[in-house]
Amino acid sequence: MNHTIVVRGLYKEYNSQTILDNVNLEVEKGETLGIVGPNGIGKTTLLRIIAGIEHPTRGEVNVRGKVGLVPQDDLLLPWKTIKDNIILGLILHNTPRGIIEEKLRRVASLLELEEHLSKYPKNASGGTRRKAAISRALVMDTDILLLDEPYAGLDLKITQSLAGVLNRLKERGVTLVIVSHKLWELASNADRIIFMNGPPGRVDGEIDLRGLSEEERIARLLGEARRYTSM
Ligand SMILES: Nc1ncnc2c1ncn2[C@@H]1O[C@H](COP(=O)(O)OP(=O)(O)OP(=O)(O)O)[C@@H](O)[C@H]1O
Ligand SMILES: [Mg+2]
Repeated sequence: MNHTIVVRGLYKEYNSQTILDNVNLEVEKGETLGIVGPNGIGKTTLLRIIAGIEHPTRGEVNVRGKVGLVPQDDLLLPWKTIKDNIILGLILHNTPRGIIEEKLRRVASLLELEEHLSKYPKNASGGTRRKAAISRALVMDTDILLLDEPYAGLDLKITQSLAGVLNRLKERGVTLVIVSHKLWELASNADRIIFMNGPPGRVDGEIDLRGLSEEERIARLLGEARRYTSM
């Protein structure tokens, strides 16, 4: 199998309290994996460990490819414009001006951000800020994108627009891991969904939506939604 992320026997403790308890998962290249679980179960911690920002207490994490993390709270610098936030990583890597402009142009077009580039984050909508946070990861030529609650706080129209953006990235071969506490937010994107439960956080079930018709997909998701009524 062509796995781009492999997590084996992962444990995470904070102050001797177990947060993640023997988490195992694999993500194939180009796949979109959804991770669903209630608040506080350890989803963000898991993504941060996969991104290499956080270290596991025990266990193995293997990632093949360049990872970008889109954090739960966007974390844009308020004193920089949307454009300058997006290109910050490129500037820190001393990327030539011409290449920066070209990468910016491509990503702004893909995420429909052109008219918002000169705004400051506080003057941009939540949807624009989310797209800027995704762009900031994408300009670094990431082929694995970890998205922490990308739809949180977005209205239906922007949610659909963002789902379209994520589908376009998938078509371009980007591997996506999307974390959410709402199963339905993953309905239009995920190839596979794993469920986390606990505490402590562990993987507690998986559904494979690949190769299903739209009707079969919805039936499958409805069945799961009934089983995990809290979602
Ligand atoms: N740096 C830290 N130090 C101590 N405890 C932490 C730290 N980071 C997270 N935790 C704890 O780990 C648990 C899991 O947190 P995490 O943010 O990963 O959950 P989550 O599933 O992402 O929640 P949400 O859906 O609310 O975003 C929580 O109990 C949290 O308090
Ligand atoms: Mg979280």
